[in-house]
Parts: sequence; structure tokens; C-alpha cells
Amino acid sequence: MDLKQLNAFIAVADLRSFSAAATKTGLSQPSLSRLLKQLETDIGVVLIDRYHRPLHLTEAGSFFYDKISTILTEIETVTSMTQRLSAPSTALNIGFVPSVLYGLLPEIIAKLKQSNPDIEVNLKDISSYQQMEALKSGDIDVGFGRFAHQDPWIQQILLRHERYVVALPKSHPLAYVEEQRLIDLANNRLILYHQTHLPIAATVTPSAHARSYSDNTQLDKPIRADAGEQLASNKPITEPLLHLFAQYGISPYMTTTVSDLQVALGLVAAGEGITLVPASLKTVRTEQISYQRLVHENVTSPIYLHTLKDFVHPSISNLLSAIYQVYEQRGITYRPQKFVSQA
Ligand code: BEZ
Repeated sequence: MDLKQLNAFIAVADLRSFSAAATKTGLSQPSLSRLLKQLETDIGVVLIDRYHRPLHLTEAGSFFYDKISTILTEIETVTSMTQRLSAPSTALNIGFVPSVLYGLLPEIIAKLKQSNPDIEVNLKDISSYQQMEALKSGDIDVGFGRFAHQDPWIQQILLRHERYVVALPKSHPLAYVEEQRLIDLANNRLILYHQTHLPIAATVTPSAHARSYSDNTQLDKPIRADAGEQLASNKPITEPLLHLFAQYGISPYMTTTVSDLQVALGLVAAGEGITLVPASLKTVRTEQISYQRLVHENVTSPIYLHTLKDFVHPSISNLLSAIYQVYEQRGITYRPQKFVSQA
């Protein structure tokens, strides 16, 4: 069994076609077929059901596919890390989720460049989940996101917890109420925008916490009542904003889900509902949106720094110092952290 055979097998399994897999791998179709036959002979198992179209994997083939694709990804990660170890890039490639760009990221980069004038920084807008793959493939050296990830290759540092604020249209009756409670917001349409959901282990199970919101009867019929449905079905609440409400036993009656934070704030500006955003977003669309504090101190969004466990880019310790300097200048509370290992 060799890597060429395994890559050919993965290509056929992904594309369900010998000709498409041959194009992808740059092999002729007869060579590809020969490699696959040889792989099956080597392990003594038929992996591909060749008699149906599109092609299917046999049960054993599906098992082999799951296990081998994980191993091949690991081989790619190790190869890329080894190459970076022998010739680390001078540029620092930083992945970030949009919500941190509105906050302190520009100031942190300016601080980093001030103390390291020769540093080259590249910024990439990339979701929290995709950052994990980008770290492994070497596309980024460090990622900033708002979700914890459990991955044996990745180490994460919790930088701080940022408070959420409520974003309301300026015409809303609560727009100028300075300290707001989640319970007073539950009758509004809540705009949801997170693409990444919380891991099941970190979620609230409705039966344990939920106190159903009693005054629903006078409301308009909801367009979507995800939260209510989730509560009724006893499913764990993995959507981050609904999770915050659920911690207080509240199920927002009406919800609308959009693709990102910008769209959510656009809908708030248009008077379509309210949402919760990290406090650093408070400067967006201030002509139409009023941002108000929440009384609940634990309604926060964490900010994590993610990097590889076994290969920490040489500039990352300078980046962490720049972050802590900005926090100190702004009086932000943080607990200094260290990396597990340094290459
Ligand atoms: C922060 O707001 O704490 C932050 C933003 C971007 C990168 C690191 C930290």
C-alpha cells in the first residue's frame, strides 16, 4: 500500500467517478484503475462497488475512507509543519473573524508593527472553524476567533471575555434604556447570525433551565420560532445567542437567521428586529442603531487566539505582547497566558 494508491482512492471516493478522479490526480484512467485494483489486492478487500453508477464505496470501503482521510490529512499537516520548521516564513499570516476586526485588531497590528518595524503581516478574513484547517495547512500562522475548538493539533489561548450589548433600532421604545435585561427583550424578533454553533457539551438542555416565556399569546404569529421549537423538543441549544437567553430560562419568541453580523445589523437598522453583538461593534451604523449595555455581567463573548501546538511562529510571542499592551493601555482586564511549546 502506498500514498499514490491512497490518494487515488480518496479522489474516486470524493468524486464518485473514475474519469473525474483521473483528471483531478493527473493520472490516465487505466493507471488510476490499476492503482485502485492494486490497493484492493494489497489489503484483500473490495473497497469500490464498480457495478452501480454513480460509483459507491462498499461498507468496508466507507470505513477505510473515513480512517484513511484522517491519516492523509495528518500526513499533509506534518509535512507542511516540517517544511515551515526548516524554513519559517518571515511574514505573519493572521486569520480573523469579522467581529474582531471591528474591535481591537487594527490597534494591535499597529502596536506590533511599531515594536517590530520589519514585520510583514497578512490578514485573512476566515471563519473560526476554517481557521483550524488553515493553521494545519500553513495558510495562517495564528487565528483569532470566538469559539473554543478541541483539536489535538491546536492550542488556544483565551484572551478575554467581551461583553455583549443589545442593538436596537433607534425608533424602538427601549432604544434609550441604558441597562437592559434579557427578559425585557424576549418579545422582540431576535436576529441570529452566528455561523458556528456551540459544541453540544457546552450547551444548555432546555428541560434543565427553561422557564417558558408566559406572555406569548398577544404576539403576532412568528415567522420562525426556532427557540420555542428547540425548547419544546428538548434539543440542546447550540445557537450562541439563544444559548445566552436559555441560561436565563428565556426562549425568544420570534427569530430570523441571517448569514452574518453585517446583515444582522442591517436588519436592525431597517427596524426588523434586535440582536446582541460584542461591545466592539458599537460603532457600526450608529445613525440607525442604538447600542445599550446588558445588566448581566456573564453575557459575554470570548476571544481566543489559536495556533499550532507544535509549531509556534517566531513572531507570535511579539503579537501576544502587543495584545497585552493594548489591553493595559485601555484598562481591559485579562489573565496573561503562555504558549505550551515554542519552536
Ligand atoms: C480583542 O478585542 O481583545 C482582540 C481583537 C483582535 C485580536 C485580539 C484581541
